[in-house]
Amino acid sequence: MSPSARILGIETSCDETAAAVVAEGNQVLSSVVSSQVDIHARYGGVVPEIAGRAHVDLLTPVVAEALVKAGLDVRGTEDDGGAPGVAAVAATVGPGLVGSLLVGVSAAKALALVWDVPFVAVNHLEAHLYAAFLEEPDLELPLVVLLVSGGHTLLVAMDDHGRYRLLGQTIDDAAGEAFDKVARFLGLGYPGGPAIDRKASEGRGDAIAFPRAMADEGLDFSFSGLKTAVITHVRKHPEVSTADVAASFQEAVVDVLVAKARRAAAAIGASGLCLAGGVAANSVLRERVLDACIADGLRAFVPSRSMCTDNAAMVAAAGWWRLRSDGPSPLDTGADPGLRLAGAR
Ligand code: KG4
Ligand code: ZN
Repeated sequence: MSPSARILGIETSCDETAAAVVAEGNQVLSSVVSSQVDIHARYGGVVPEIAGRAHVDLLTPVVAEALVKAGLDVRGTEDDGGAPGVAAVAATVGPGLVGSLLVGVSAAKALALVWDVPFVAVNHLEAHLYAAFLEEPDLELPLVVLLVSGGHTLLVAMDDHGRYRLLGQTIDDAAGEAFDKVARFLGLGYPGGPAIDRKASEGRGDAIAFPRAMADEGLDFSFSGLKTAVITHVRKHPEVSTADVAASFQEAVVDVLVAKARRAAAAIGASGLCLAGGVAANSVLRERVLDACIADGLRAFVPSRSMCTDNAAMVAAAGWWRLRSDGPSPLDTGADPGLRLAGAR
């Protein structure tokens, strides 16, 4: 395979240190994710300073492992001028924690300089959108993507590569943030999403009628009232089953997410509905999206769980499309913790 086809992706925006080599924008040759979950668990959430320091320690071995697993020589070859056969180095430049982003961005620029290949700045949100292309290269556009992560809840119309319209977003907490906060309140630990997902499987989703905020109003979301409703209910009924609370909370979140995603798909005449972001790993959300797509005659794109949560293969995939459309990024491109999706209102 020609080295021009391979991109090294680097992801350090939050608490996963990740590197991957992807060929032709969608063939994953390696994808290494070193999670810092154990380091942050005792604090009940990500501690930015600790995350930044952990990335410094972990990134070099993670990149080396990704190159080796992709069958590349870390020391490079003479033919490639010392580069290990990659055409470009792509890294997440934002949004995220600034200290964490800086580690990946600085490393990616240094490698690009040393290997004399382009550096490609990648928007983390765009990378999540591209996760689906890794498993379904023939995705038909336009698509509606429901991007649900720890920091964002967005409904995005993807009209073409790099062309997005923001159809709706949360006006307060992100969906993942709501999962994490409710899990902490229920004593289920961190990260909250997978903990609630597991606990909910033992409970009844219709046990408690939690509110569905803004259910009939437009395509924006609100989750902070739901979190308060859970806290109020448990304080009033301390004997309530935690599994029922988890299942009913999850049901309320999923209900609103799926209802609005369907409405968005109908509004833009989308050919399909795609899930992205860490919350897209949720079992009930995945099932409901598949059911909704069958009912509405839409194609469903539900990436595997490991592609929904933060990884560097999606960064390399988005970097491949960015490199083709915009060319290399300037080496003075900085980390941008508040970066938005292009086209966002
Ligand atoms: O995309 P991601 O890995 O990182 C960000 O960019 O934020 O998303 C992390 C979020 C966390 O809030 C986590 O609790 C949530 O995704 N999450 C889940 C599940 N797995 C991860 N939420 C619900 N159910 C899950 N199974
Ligand atoms: Zn993410």
